[in-house]
Amino acid sequence: MVFKCLFVLALCTCYGRLYEIFLDKEWEDFKRIYSKTYTEQDEKIRKSIWIQNIDIINRHNKEADMGHHSYRLGMNEFGDMTTKEVTRMLNVPKGYATDNVSTFLPPNNLQLPETVNWTKEGYVTPVKNQGYCGSCWAFATTGGLEGQHFRKTKKLVSLSEQNLVDCCKENLGCTGGLPVTAYKYIARNGGIDTEESYPYLGKNGNCTFRPPKIGATCQGFVRVPAGDEVGLQKAVASVGPVTVSIDASLKSFYLYKEGVYDDKKCSKKMFNHFVLIVGYGKHLGKEYWLVKNSWGMSFGMDGYIMMARNQDNQCGISNQPVYPIV
Ligand SMILES: *[C@@H]1O[C@H](CO)[C@@H](O)[C@H](O)[C@H]1NC(C)=O
Ligand SMILES: *[C@@H]1O[C@H](CO)[C@@H](O)[C@H](O)[C@H]1NC(C)=O
Ligand SMILES: *[C@@H]1O[C@H](CO)[C@@H](O)[C@H](O)[C@H]1NC(C)=O
Repeated sequence: MVFKCLFVLALCTCYGRLYEIFLDKEWEDFKRIYSKTYTEQDEKIRKSIWIQNIDIINRHNKEADMGHHSYRLGMNEFGDMTTKEVTRMLNVPKGYATDNVSTFLPPNNLQLPETVNWTKEGYVTPVKNQGYCGSCWAFATTGGLEGQHFRKTKKLVSLSEQNLVDCCKENLGCTGGLPVTAYKYIARNGGIDTEESYPYLGKNGNCTFRPPKIGATCQGFVRVPAGDEVGLQKAVASVGPVTVSIDASLKSFYLYKEGVYDDKKCSKKMFNHFVLIVGYGKHLGKEYWLVKNSWGMSFGMDGYIMMARNQDNQCGISNQPVYPIV
């Protein structure tokens, strides 16, 4: 009996030590993959946050294996950050724009497809990375315009977020902004430069817009009626990618890996992030919006997330959908 206890104790201690060695190796890999460098002081803090996140990921995925969740979590470049720190990246001005503009009217004879994926149809540029700058509004804006520009010209041109961050003065650069304000700026400005001619820096700068480098123009924008996910589905199916606001402030969001994201705690009212709906469909019987994020390729499914659709406007995804007129 005593022997057995000692044996179990030894096994546990040994296992604990093995797990530590395993974690140390994983930590070195994490730092290498995401090019993280820390001061000695900072590294201790970052590693302990990372270990907590690993525990949360493992616990969640165990529950997912038992069928309690429709999505899985995974490590990515935000894995050494707390929810509070990630939320700081999300800063956008409070309140909705209230301009009186045209609203989307679905075509009369519209046959709604079961599945839409505009990325497959060439409407969507590769996933970009806003970095530690609250410029999601600029990425959602360019994403919408890239899609409508492609629809009209059959040319996919990557457009400049830095142009918007630097020159759209009604928005607040890395502190936040609204896509409708950005679309109005592009219309007034006579266009937006290409990504190539005005590359992204991830910080506020002086406006260096150059008219000869314009990649697309826009006449204004159209709103899709708020809170109507079927109307939004019709807009996505008949028009193309649509810019939306969401609540992205939960840990389950920034550690999302795959499956249909469905977290009842996601707010229907509060928004703090702008993204691009590029399609919709059904995954393992669960309806989703296919969403392009601007947090690089390590986030979610190569930068994309499938978000719950027709789940009572979860994350407020249908609160302020908008697309540009080209
Ligand atoms: C918005 O425009 C419509 C159509 O032009 C008009 O009937 C309506 O009164 C306007 N609403 C506001 C709040 O200006
Ligand atoms: C959408 O299309 C892209 C490009 O073909 C593909 O990589 C991706 O897996 C598709 N997404 C879904 C959810 O079908
Ligand atoms: C912007 O221009 C001002 C005035 O020319 C200059 O002082 C400032 O350093 C510039 N800022 C950046 C980020 O280049």
